[in-house]
Order: sequence, then structure tokens, then C-alpha cells
Amino acid sequence: MNLEALLAGRLAAAFAAVAGETVDPVVRQSQHADFQSGAALALARRLGRPPREVAAEVADKSDLAGLASVEVSGPGFLNLAVDDAVLATAVDALDDDRLGVPPVARPERIVIDYSGPNAAKELQVGHLRSTIIGDALARLHAWLGHEVIRRNHLGDWGTQFGMLIEHMVDLGGDAAEHSLGDLTDFYRAARRKFDADDRFRTRSRLRVVALQSGDELTRSLWRRLVGQTESTFMDTYARLGVTLTPADFVGESFYQDQLESVLSELDEKGLLVESEGALCVFPAGFTGRDGEPLPLIVRKSDGGFGYAATDLAALRHRVRTLGATRLLYVVGAPQRTHFRMVFEVCRRAGWLPPEVTAEHIEFGSILGADGKMFRTRSGDNVTLAALLDEAVERASSPAVGIGAIKYADLSGDRRSDYVFDWDRMLASTGNTGPYLQYAYARIRSIFRQADAAEAGPVSLGAPAERRLALALLGFEPAVTAAAAHREPHRLAVYLHELAVAFTGFYESCPILRSAGPTRASRLTLADRTARTLAIGLSLLGIDLPEEM
Ligand code: ARG
Repeated sequence: MNLEALLAGRLAAAFAAVAGETVDPVVRQSQHADFQSGAALALARRLGRPPREVAAEVADKSDLAGLASVEVSGPGFLNLAVDDAVLATAVDALDDDRLGVPPVARPERIVIDYSGPNAAKELQVGHLRSTIIGDALARLHAWLGHEVIRRNHLGDWGTQFGMLIEHMVDLGGDAAEHSLGDLTDFYRAARRKFDADDRFRTRSRLRVVALQSGDELTRSLWRRLVGQTESTFMDTYARLGVTLTPADFVGESFYQDQLESVLSELDEKGLLVESEGALCVFPAGFTGRDGEPLPLIVRKSDGGFGYAATDLAALRHRVRTLGATRLLYVVGAPQRTHFRMVFEVCRRAGWLPPEVTAEHIEFGSILGADGKMFRTRSGDNVTLAALLDEAVERASSPAVGIGAIKYADLSGDRRSDYVFDWDRMLASTGNTGPYLQYAYARIRSIFRQADAAEAGPVSLGAPAERRLALALLGFEPAVTAAAAHREPHRLAVYLHELAVAFTGFYESCPILRSAGPTRASRLTLADRTARTLAIGLSLLGIDLPEEM
């Protein structure tokens, strides 16, 4: 049962009577009352009347019988106190595997573009945020009943593959296979030769041409190289509990044969402009630092297609062929202008019709203790594999260590930068993964000492029981808000508040040492908390140990 919606429904009639039109009562849980509505304040402004008077009139006309009591507070808020019996029944009802949250009425087909590492390089800490924020959004939307299509937009195409393939050729069969095991070394070795050796450089350029023209041997070497990196990515995704599968790997190479038609459609629509030998679109409203119009380069002056062209093709494909109604791109904030321009060009080309939404899901950077980009002591990029190893070692548990990293990332507003801090994220108190996991494990331990069948109807006596009941009823609004704003931290913050409410309850209301209906009720409260933590954390992609 969604109590916010229920209360809003009852208040809506009173608001309509006072306003003479429909008003959304915007009922929310609050620090000051069980629930609160601030809608009378805005209404009073519109009506040009004193807010407290408007609020009082709404309160007067409200029929909340059998549900709650209402009073006017402060400048004109409506404070609602829900009847204990209503709260108790609502908590009782949270006994199914969806905690009473119905699937959305109108499911959308949502393409979520996330992770997107570059093939032939190892996954770095720089890929962490896209990967886990994207995965949380994928889990959340799928759970709400949307059709989610995951897309891992690998950087698996481009001129750097010339030198990499040529390096494979130099090493020959087995040695190449072997050295691909360490991608960072492999990439560096190829790069060193490229920088130092003219002949190697020439061969690499020819190799790019061979790759682009579809030369069979070159293609098969390229496939091996990409295949090898994909399987190392899959290993790390598996450790991270990320739901990307090999079928979701649809890299830049996939769109290569669609680029000519991107170009010709743009041309037909009169959008292409030649500028310094390159073919560009100048979408309105984008200017550089000097005030000059900013081009989106579709075909470079050397005739090659780049990152932007591929994103145009990918967007067109996702709408036209996959039938997406919503597109989410979980990519760092530095690509903001790129995506705004891609979206604008696609709108003008007719590839992004008004009924389809495209959104860049931005996020900030992970910083080191020095406030600069998080790196190793020697200034190298931190590989994800190494980071996960360290997490597991520090926590002595994959679920706790990896959960701590993911929770630290997902529990803050994604737009903000954050400092990577082992001590803080692994702390057993505070807004951390281990704290939530511990709350869950504690409840599991209770149910090893009591039989689940002993749980019975909820009755609310102590204030801590009431607070926990209200916290439990906050799940649906939190999930809905996290999805609506594409902000996983709204769910994380909620789960933390729930765990805090549970801790308060656990400390002041004995469960196993109580008896009769009180024990039955408290076991139900504990059970509902465990279910909520389990589902909520699974939507964030965080595992829960049964014992800690
Ligand atoms: N490979 C890109 C990078 O490392 C990220 C890809 C993001 N997705 C996209 N459709 N452009 O920056």
C-alpha cells in the first residue's frame, strides 16, 4: 500500500473544493509529522489568501476518517498523523517479493548505455562509476517493469587497432595470445614501437586500411584481440556483480557500416556543412570559448569517421531498429557537450522524435585523498581488478569489500565528485555498505533463533516501532524517486535511514526476549526490514551475506 498516494487521494478532494481546480497535495514523509503536505502554501499564493487560512480550510474539508488526523502547522503546512492500525496493516501487507510495489502501468523500452570501456585496455577505476551506476539503473528500471536493453558501447574500433594488430603479428600466434593476458603491458609495448619505429608506424597505418577494407586475416586478428579483452571485461563484471552479458557488448565497430547512410541522411536534410575539409553539423546554440559556432564532426578531413559519427548511428539504430522509447547514456560529465550536440543533431535529423527521450546521465569523478584524480602512488591508473583485490583483502569478504565500494559510489549524488577512502567506506557505522549488510545479517541471525512462522500481525506500541513502520513504508516512494530522477542515491539514502530505524528499534524493543503478540509483531517488523534491505540492495547490485 502506498500511504503517500492514499493520503494524497483523500486530501485531493478538499484541495479541489478550496481551489476550484485539481491540485496535487504532494504528500511526503517528514521530520515534523508522519506525513506532510505543503501544497496549501503554493495554493494560497495563487489565490492571494493567507496560507494558514487556506490550509485550515483544506483541513476542515478533508475526509481522513479511519486513516489519519490532520492539523495546520507553521506557515501553512498540513501535518498528518496516521492511525496506528493503518500503519500496522500497511506493514503487514509488505509480505510479497515486490513489497507491494506494482509494476509500472506503461512500460517503456529503455536502452541504457553504460560501462563502455575501450577494448585492448584494461578496465580502470575510471570505468567504475559508469559501470555500477548504469547497472543500478538497469536493475531498477527492469524491476519496475520496463524493458531494459543494456548496451556496452565498447571502443573497439579506430586507428589504434592498426598498431595493436601489427604488434600481434610481430609476436606471432602463441606469444601474442600469452601477452594479451596483460593488456596494459601489451598496449604499452605496441605504443613504444609505434613511437620509436618508422617502419612499424607505416605497417600500422596500412593495417588500419586493411582492417577497414575488411581484409580477412586482419579481421580475424582484430576479433581475437577484441574477444580477448571482452572476456577479461566479463571476469571483472562478474566479480562486480554487473549484469552485462556478452550479448550486450555492441561496440563502435557494430555501427561502421551504418555511417555512410548517417552521412547521406544528414546531407539530404541539408544539415551537412563542409568545414576545413571535414563534414560537420553546426547545431544551433553551441559555441566554443571564442563564441564561434561549434561543429559536430561527422566525417573528418582524412575521410575517417570518429566517435561522434558512431554515436549518431547508434542513437538512430536504437530508436529506429530497437524501438527504444527512452535512451540513457551513463557517461562522465566531461562528455556533456558531446551528448547535447548528438541529441540536438539527431532531433534535427528526425532520428530522435519528441516522444523519445534521450538523457545523459552524468556523474562526477573519483578523487584521491589529495583531491586530484584517484591514481596509484606512482601516478598510474588504478585497474579495477587491483581495486577489487584490495577491497576483498581489506574486508576479508568479496560481498563486503565489493559491496562497500559500490555502496560508497551509489550513496552519493552521482553528479558530485567523491574521495575514495577505504576507511570510510568499510566502516561498520555510518552510511556505508557494511552497516546495511550488518543490519540485514543481524535480522537473519534473529531468524536462526526464532521460527519465521512465529511472525504475526503488527501492532505498534513503542515509538521506535512506529518509526520503523513509517520507514518501511518509505520504500515505494524511494524506488519511484530513484527511477524518476535516475538517482540511485535516493534509494541508498532511504535504505540507510531504514537501517538506522531498525537499529533504534532493535536497541529499544527486545524481540527474542519478548513473548506473545508483541514478539509476533516484532518478528514481522524485522522480517519486513530484511526483505526491504534485500530487495533494495539487490536493485543497487549489492550482495548481502547471511552472516557477518
Ligand atoms: N568509450 C567511451 C569512453 O571511454 C565511452 C562510451 C560511452 N558511450 C557512448 N555511446 N558514447 O569515453
